[in-house]
Amino acid sequence: MKPQEPASNIPFVQPPAGETLENLIEHKRKNLEAIFDAVPVGLLLLDENLTVVRVNDAIRKMIGKDYSQIINRTIGNALDCQTIAIESNVCGSGQYCKKCPLIQNIQKVVETSQPVHQVEFQSRTHFQDRAVKPWFALSVEPVTIEGRRHIVVCLNDITVRKLAEEKLIETMEIKSQFISTVSHELRTPLTAIKEGLNIVLEEEAGTLNKKQKQFLELSKRNVERLNGLVNDVLDFQKLESGSMKFDFALGNIADAVKEAAEIMSPMAKKAGISITVEVEPDIFRSVFDHNKIIYAVTNLLSNAIKFTPAGGKVSAKVQLQNDEIIIAISDTGMGIPKEDLSKIFERFYRVKRPGKEIPGTGLGLPIVAQIITHHGGRIMVESELDKGTTFTIFLPRRPPADLDQLSTAGDETIEKTITQ
Ligand SMILES: Nc1ncnc2c1ncn2[C@@H]1O[C@H](COP(=O)(O)OP(=O)(O)OP(=O)(O)O)[C@@H](O)[C@H]1O
Ligand SMILES: [Mg+2]
Repeated sequence: MKPQEPASNIPFVQPPAGETLENLIEHKRKNLEAIFDAVPVGLLLLDENLTVVRVNDAIRKMIGKDYSQIINRTIGNALDCQTIAIESNVCGSGQYCKKCPLIQNIQKVVETSQPVHQVEFQSRTHFQDRAVKPWFALSVEPVTIEGRRHIVVCLNDITVRKLAEEKLIETMEIKSQFISTVSHELRTPLTAIKEGLNIVLEEEAGTLNKKQKQFLELSKRNVERLNGLVNDVLDFQKLESGSMKFDFALGNIADAVKEAAEIMSPMAKKAGISITVEVEPDIFRSVFDHNKIIYAVTNLLSNAIKFTPAGGKVSAKVQLQNDEIIIAISDTGMGIPKEDLSKIFERFYRVKRPGKEIPGTGLGLPIVAQIITHHGGRIMVESELDKGTTFTIFLPRRPPADLDQLSTAGDETIEKTITQ
């Protein structure tokens, strides 16, 4: 067999022609050792008593010791486990060993002969010299060498990634706290402004002339838009952080779609667009959150109407396929360019339409996608420029038994009223 080409940084040894069998085996051993040492993650070979038989270069660098200080010691001693000194126990049999993720996983592999892959853990007792308790991704494989059981322990130091993740989570929490505080603070004065405008517009505070009325109507529309934006931001933040409450109940999804179409029909009429709803004669009983599905479908219908010129058609179809409920919202509108299709579910993303700008914030679709994901479903889009667009929601048909499993995380309820 032709020998494998060596990787550039591995000192691969080619056996000279006409070599003896012993020498060939020796060459092979050297090659395997070179590969073992070149692996960039820490590898330890242990016997059944948790004694280190062999290690690679990466583990030696990770521990900062010579081979002589590692080989023939238990893994606990080699990795400076603090509990061995405190409990003066043999590695693997101390009280703390019962909680030690490293020892527990190794012992599990010894007992079951089944490998363990990519278990992430933070070592609290090993690597005593480190300022930060290190994180590892641990894999353990059982192997047989010369008829005796051994264990290969693979330790990948993931401390940098874990710290970055912790920092990111912390930053996200601060950001989401900030967004919800600002949005809540904005909502109260906005409600007061709206109330005030309504009183003046209804002429309870005196008669208005035509011009005054026009300006106040314009202000009211803008306040409503701002209010809608604040609600969208709050909803999106709640959905993303998982604090949005979902009220799952058994119902008919087709009814929710019909209700959404009714809500949107005044907007469609005003825009000169027809809406049709087509529902398969089946009964689509499933467990879902009625208001959230109405909210998702109204959002898609609102987009379909917004981005379709007068005279166009919008349709909502509901059907059952392979135990999935499919809701398709189609329009004959302006379509979405191919290069934008993958981005429209990102928050605040809006397709640039020079000369044909249509108002919006770019939060509608991200909210819809979150709602559908919380239902265990998915959403897809197909579009052709100047021909039309179809958004398709796929929802798993859930039997009433699923009600118990579905989360009702958080205690805040959706406060949104659809005002578009
Ligand atoms: N049916 C559609 N036809 C054409 N373009 C669409 C359609 N639906 C969505 N889009 C494009 O995707 C973008 C993102 O939609 P999304 O609903 O998230 O935001 P929006 O409608 O602009 O604002 P918002 O929903 O927050 O008021 C839209 O700006 C639009 O360009
Ligand atoms: Mg929208």
